[in-house]
Amino acid sequence: MLEKLSAIGGQALEEIERSSSLESLDQIRVTLLGKKGSLSELLKGLSGLSPQERPVLGAAANEWKKKIELALEGRKTALEKVLLEQQLQREKLDISAPARIVHPGSLHVVTQTVRRMIQIFGRLGFDVTLGPEAETEYLNFEAVNIPADHPARDMQDTFFLGPGVVLRTHTSGVQMRSMLAQKSPVRILCPGAVYRCDHDATHSPMFHQLEGLWVDRNVRMSDLNGVLLFWARELFGADTQIRLRPSYFPFVEPGAEVDVSCFRCRVKRSEQCRICKGTGWLEILGAGMVHPRLFEMAGYSRSEGLSGFAFGLGVERIAMLLHEIPDLRLLFQGDMRFLGQF
Ligand code: PHE
Repeated sequence: MLEKLSAIGGQALEEIERSSSLESLDQIRVTLLGKKGSLSELLKGLSGLSPQERPVLGAAANEWKKKIELALEGRKTALEKVLLEQQLQREKLDISAPARIVHPGSLHVVTQTVRRMIQIFGRLGFDVTLGPEAETEYLNFEAVNIPADHPARDMQDTFFLGPGVVLRTHTSGVQMRSMLAQKSPVRILCPGAVYRCDHDATHSPMFHQLEGLWVDRNVRMSDLNGVLLFWARELFGADTQIRLRPSYFPFVEPGAEVDVSCFRCRVKRSEQCRICKGTGWLEILGAGMVHPRLFEMAGYSRSEGLSGFAFGLGVERIAMLLHEIPDLRLLFQGDMRFLGQF
């Protein structure tokens, strides 16, 4: 039996030394020392031996068991070291490899421009309010005093979505929405997309406007002038001037076209100025005092003594001026080489 023991033990040590994976090592452990393992079976047989033989064989068996366990442990450590070494080789980082360029997202230049202006007007107490892009024909036109025979309602200008519903052609419908929704005072800004059937280097079928409306007791045209001057100086520089030229919009009376002095040549009318083309002025927005018809339609009574002003400006035009962008279409082509500059 002693011989059998040393045969099993000797062979086991050899196998352990030869084993090349943790799995095969474990297999060896199970076939030797597991419940039904050969060494365990042998030890079970000890009970059948004589009292003289038993301690001798028992001691020898335990000796072998220890040796084998030690060998298993040693081999396991060695194998693990090799595996780790291999893994480190495989996962080696080449820290000199060129980095992959990550493009962090950024706001579109139109969004940046709107936000900048909202921030400026916000300091004068204007709150942002939004209206739907699919607007009722009533709010887009009638409610802002644009009668049915007005040229703006022509099929050529307006996208009709269905009976009584259009893609809003301007944000002015929100003037009426705000007045219907809240009693005066009203001091709102409405930024958003508007749509017109038009497409060339300076017109896009979709563009953005920023509408402003201030209604309260005793709001005067000089207030309009003051608010727009503040805005223009914040946006274009402290020495900017503005001028109001009489103009017509159905929802204001009087109405004005507002020009801002050229921030490049400063009204010097330089023939070469690419921004103002030598005129010294930039036509920027429409504005005026809210037409009394609108107050009537909003259900405001005359006795409240209310007055107000409104203005509306095209955001793309301002972004183009500020960044000297030559073609409106560049803003909407989604070319990252262009958009990434802002
Ligand atoms: N809604 C006008 C437009 O789209 C702009 C405007 C707004 C003019 C408010 C006057 C007052 O051109």
